[in-house]
Amino acid sequence: MSKLGEQHIRLKLPVWDSDRFAVPADIELFDRLTEELRVHSQGADNGPWTRLPDDEVRGTIEQMLAGWCGWFRFPLTESREIADLFCSTEVLRDYETFLRGIDHVGILDGKSLNDLAATNWRLLDLGSLMDFLLISGFFEFEGHRPKILEIGGGFGRLAEFLPLITGVFMEYVIIDVAPVSLMYAHQYLTLRFPERRTVMFSPGVALDDYDFLIVPSWYAEYLPRNYFDLAINVESMQEMNQDLVDYYVEYIHAHVRDQGVIYLVNSREHLFTGSWNFPSEWECLYRHRTIRSWTLNHPAEIFRKTASSHKRANMLRTAALERELDLHRAVQKLRFSHAARLSYTLHQPFSIRKVLTIPYLLGLLLVPQPVKRNIKVTMERARAYWAGK
Ligand SMILES: C[S@@+](CC[C@H](N)C(=O)[O-])C[C@H]1O[C@@H](n2cnc3c(N)ncnc32)[C@H](O)[C@@H]1O
Repeated sequence: MSKLGEQHIRLKLPVWDSDRFAVPADIELFDRLTEELRVHSQGADNGPWTRLPDDEVRGTIEQMLAGWCGWFRFPLTESREIADLFCSTEVLRDYETFLRGIDHVGILDGKSLNDLAATNWRLLDLGSLMDFLLISGFFEFEGHRPKILEIGGGFGRLAEFLPLITGVFMEYVIIDVAPVSLMYAHQYLTLRFPERRTVMFSPGVALDDYDFLIVPSWYAEYLPRNYFDLAINVESMQEMNQDLVDYYVEYIHAHVRDQGVIYLVNSREHLFTGSWNFPSEWECLYRHRTIRSWTLNHPAEIFRKTASSHKRANMLRTAALERELDLHRAVQKLRFSHAARLSYTLHQPFSIRKVLTIPYLLGLLLVPQPVKRNIKVTMERARAYWAGK
């Protein structure tokens, strides 16, 4: 256990049972939410999450993990699959290096990733640990009952992780548009925290008697303004359109209190590639790529909502990120051309001329099979990358 800040919260790394995601669907609730969404949206486009195929949304929570968390759903024990997917045998080592670098509370002291794997951690949980360490660098969890607002909370990954690791009781509100996310967040948090109150919002529900409140986005305007201490959006606005992103940025601005903290992690080059119109009163405290950035321009951003403009300082933060991205672009280019060279030596058809080259012989003898496999996959991605240019 380690301590957070001066107030001595006892932090504890969560452990999970192997059947953590054995969560039953509540089809009645799902159907009710689907009907409500239909009535409230009146034909408006609510994005891809409201157009998922029926067999997906009516499958299991484990199936849905692919949508919510992508490759990050894999357990840490499956290191070979993780290496294959990420084209790198060093993903887990890189995660560990990154996490130890930001571990300002020493929670990983004396722990290895193998220890975490043994207690059923998945890659998505390392992401949650990273989210916690980044947020808690700027946000105090202790000394009060924090009021947290998360837009697009998936199955409740962070809603579960933050109370578990801090042991703090929170008012945690999730707003989501997708019936399947709303339903499973409700089911999952109810099952994981039987002693706390998980409530599905509908008009008339008391707004001060819950630990977890799940709010369909069509009821978002019922929530109090200038109320929340912390707002979160992770890998979610990147899937919306300009109107929705503008709406949620303004919504967060209106609903977070003065001096509240805002934590956003979104790719700038996934489905949404438009403008991020942050108010100038949001002071940017942090803006960098992270170990979870699966596209190039994919920063974690932390802001403090204030009453004055931070336009000038924020511009310098943006420029600094741009330089960081330039370096990553250069590294990516080098990696692709290196892979292209190795690929030629390792995967081109047999020829006497090729066999006599030193790189071929060295490659044959020295490059281990998993690396060869990764080079092959990297090349496929490199070709796709250049084809898209
Ligand atoms: C890729 S998942 C990420 C889930 C979660 N933030 C995490 O990191 O585990 C995207 C989430 O955003 C939600 N979402 C998509 N469009 C939304 C919208 N217009 N309003 C609110 N939530 C939305 C989806 O239902 C889903 O829960």
